[in-house]
Amino acid sequence: MTAFVPASRLPVADYVAAIAPYVGGKPIDEVAREFGLDPARIVKLASNENPLGMPQSARAAMLEAMSELARYPDGNAFVLKEALSKRFDVPLDWLTLGNGSNDILVLAAQAFLQPGKSAVFSQYSFVVYGLATQAVGARAIVVGADGGLGHDLAAMSRAVSDDTQLIFLANPNNPTGTYVASDAIEAFLGEIPSHIVVVLDEAYNEYLPQHLRFDSTRWVERFPNLILARTFSKAYGLAGLRVGYAIAQPAITDILNRIRQPFNVSSVAQAAAAAALADDEFLLRSYENNALGNQRLCASFDQMGLRYIPSFGNFVLVRVGEDDQAGVRVSAALLKVGIIVRPVANYGLPQWLRVSIGLPAENAQFIDALGPALRA
Ligand SMILES: Cc1ncc(COP(=O)(O)O)c(C=O)c1O
Repeated sequence: MTAFVPASRLPVADYVAAIAPYVGGKPIDEVAREFGLDPARIVKLASNENPLGMPQSARAAMLEAMSELARYPDGNAFVLKEALSKRFDVPLDWLTLGNGSNDILVLAAQAFLQPGKSAVFSQYSFVVYGLATQAVGARAIVVGADGGLGHDLAAMSRAVSDDTQLIFLANPNNPTGTYVASDAIEAFLGEIPSHIVVVLDEAYNEYLPQHLRFDSTRWVERFPNLILARTFSKAYGLAGLRVGYAIAQPAITDILNRIRQPFNVSSVAQAAAAAALADDEFLLRSYENNALGNQRLCASFDQMGLRYIPSFGNFVLVRVGEDDQAGVRVSAALLKVGIIVRPVANYGLPQWLRVSIGLPAENAQFIDALGPALRA
């Protein structure tokens, strides 16, 4: 007979036991099973993945790397780091690789937080900031968003307390898609005392239109307390492989590298990411598909009289009703016809849905189904 231990008797810290697990977008196979649908006809617009799939260049690099899978990866990821170093004109010892950029966020919390200390982040910002903070027993200082659901940097700066050691700032932000202009971020970084580490999470950076892009890597020279967190999961199309990276000065990088798992990024993932980084054509196609889909979705929301937050990421937050069940209800109606979107009640946004931008046909299928789902 199996001997069970009740969870209450496990030697676990209260703050760990209190963690609400991360809920991701529903997998296609699960929806197919639940609703008896053909998986090939299901449209998943729930996890801000790249609808173009993975780049062919990365596929070829992975196949080649597979012949070496009996060996451990290069724990120092020389080839990928060198490619990143050249691409962003930063020294090798400014780079930390992560198992997705999620890993970087967690490493930052492990390195710079502990019980009795606090992290500052905005209301409606990426859910992992709260999870990573709680997992190390630190206090979350959640700062009210501005009227457009975006970051209120002045309020965030004011919210910093004596025990604050970390700030998370997403730009563009998930799930709202909001964006803060570079001069405002630069001014914010100038205000934050240098003993507080700032993680600038740029997971959606590559979706910014040209005129809004700025070279945040140069800020790392000026702000020794800054960590940029970036990912290959979004515009580079490699979410399943789990590769992200941090750019920070050597003192911070050294700490992050000491606490990461020695082989936190697989050899196949390293090879694919290096190939994807060189694939400008794929990146441009990702950007263009996204920009077009963003326009089309928002034009449809306008026609339907739905409120949405103009998005700078690869998803749009749209308000689908006024009651607190609206998001869940409309999402459930869409699921029945094989369209997976993300209700965001867990972010405190129960009237809204977050819809990832898909291929033109997927966006059209979603829009066609949305009218009936709103009336469900
Ligand atoms: C703002 C933000 N940061 C980080 C991540 C983590 O992505 P990954 O771990 O795949 O790099 C996400 C994923 O959705 C995100 O939205």
